[in-house]
Amino acid sequence: MQMEVRPVRQLIGEVIVPGDKSISHRGVMLGALAKGTTRLSRFLAGEDCINTILAFQSMGIDIQMRSSSGEGGSDSSEDYTVLIRGKGLHGLQKPHSIIQAGNSGTTARLLAGILAGQSFAAVLDGDESLRKRPMSRIIDPLRKMGARISPQDHNTLPLTIQGSRLKGMEYTLPVASAQVKSAIVFASLYADSPSIIRQPARSRDHTEIMLQHFGGRVEEQEGTLTAYPAQELHGQDLRIPGDISSAAYFITAALLVPNSRIIMRGVGINPTRTGLLDVYRQMGADITVDNIRNAGGEPVGDITAAHSALKGIETGGSIIPRMIDEIPILALAATQAQGTTVIRDAAELKVKESNRIDVVVRTLQAFGADIEARDDGMLIHGPAPLTGCTVACEKDHRIAMMAAIAGLIAKGRTTITDGQWVDVSFPGFFHVIDRLRA
Ligand code: S3P
Repeated sequence: MQMEVRPVRQLIGEVIVPGDKSISHRGVMLGALAKGTTRLSRFLAGEDCINTILAFQSMGIDIQMRSSSGEGGSDSSEDYTVLIRGKGLHGLQKPHSIIQAGNSGTTARLLAGILAGQSFAAVLDGDESLRKRPMSRIIDPLRKMGARISPQDHNTLPLTIQGSRLKGMEYTLPVASAQVKSAIVFASLYADSPSIIRQPARSRDHTEIMLQHFGGRVEEQEGTLTAYPAQELHGQDLRIPGDISSAAYFITAALLVPNSRIIMRGVGINPTRTGLLDVYRQMGADITVDNIRNAGGEPVGDITAAHSALKGIETGGSIIPRMIDEIPILALAATQAQGTTVIRDAAELKVKESNRIDVVVRTLQAFGADIEARDDGMLIHGPAPLTGCTVACEKDHRIAMMAAIAGLIAKGRTTITDGQWVDVSFPGFFHVIDRLRA
């Protein structure tokens, strides 16, 4: 669907961003494997998380989603509540057809860990984009635990996973990936002994937090995890925090559009996700976080961002996994900062929903930015005036949203030819822009 964005003079208001994508996926998975009912409010009804729901429904789990607008709901779409009647760790049934993860790497990789320990075989597939993404990163460690996984080719989807008896292992993750770590933690629930997982840097720890909430056991010591087998998990009532990765677009819009101030309430501020706030503050951004509280073990707060004069920065190392999904929007902010910005150690961007080094660089160059690709990141010289243009997001929701925010500060009209991809993580994104503009 073609979407048009025009420049704005000012953005003032409140945005309630949708629920966190990573936490929504994990809530469905753990709810399905727990005994009893799990209730997830502020659930993200984006396409990725719907694919996770469909996967568990196809394995015999009763999952219902209802809209509860008015209950502090998001202004973009309604607030959704999901009810899951879990059947316990051994309650899944063999699905009648292929499980479709769609565009969702989280669905595919975490589910692979769960399927590895079942007593049936299942086939896991994805869309054209997900079929290109690497799966050896989960196949290798799961095989080490005894999993039987047959890829059709090249260690990519589709995968046939024949459930088997799993054993504990010691494993060092080659990349700091929460998806891989979580696949191992899920498989460990079914193993005969604990697994030890070493990680090169800390990545998002939502699986660890939520699993403990459901009665499972996983321990972390100086970055090394011990993931334990489980006897039983118990259904929970959780309110999902707002997604900081979605908030990132409106934080950035507030920083870049003159005289703007945007407030976002109830956003997840888990330290494994707040790298962008740290970098923006170092760049001189006016961002405050108030009213910090706890939601199911996850810290949440109200974020206020206001227009700021930014300066370029060099960033890399262990902060990268703490902002991996926010690098496209950080690159846009850097095009408006005074001086040079260097983003290093971010080669993982090449295997996201698109090659986010190439696509970010190409897209921002089309707007007139001074940006070049590096093997592990980008080099950006600012500030550069942007001019509206026509871009395609290459089936990548985060590129579509980055381009839309660029359109708010660019001269003239910006057209995003395939704007429907925002529905993967932020249904109603363009309505929020319209409302703020008004
Ligand atoms: C996610 C982990 C990250 C992130 C993705 C969601 C998760 O991927 O990019 O959007 O929910 O675990 P990696 O673990 O591959 O870095």
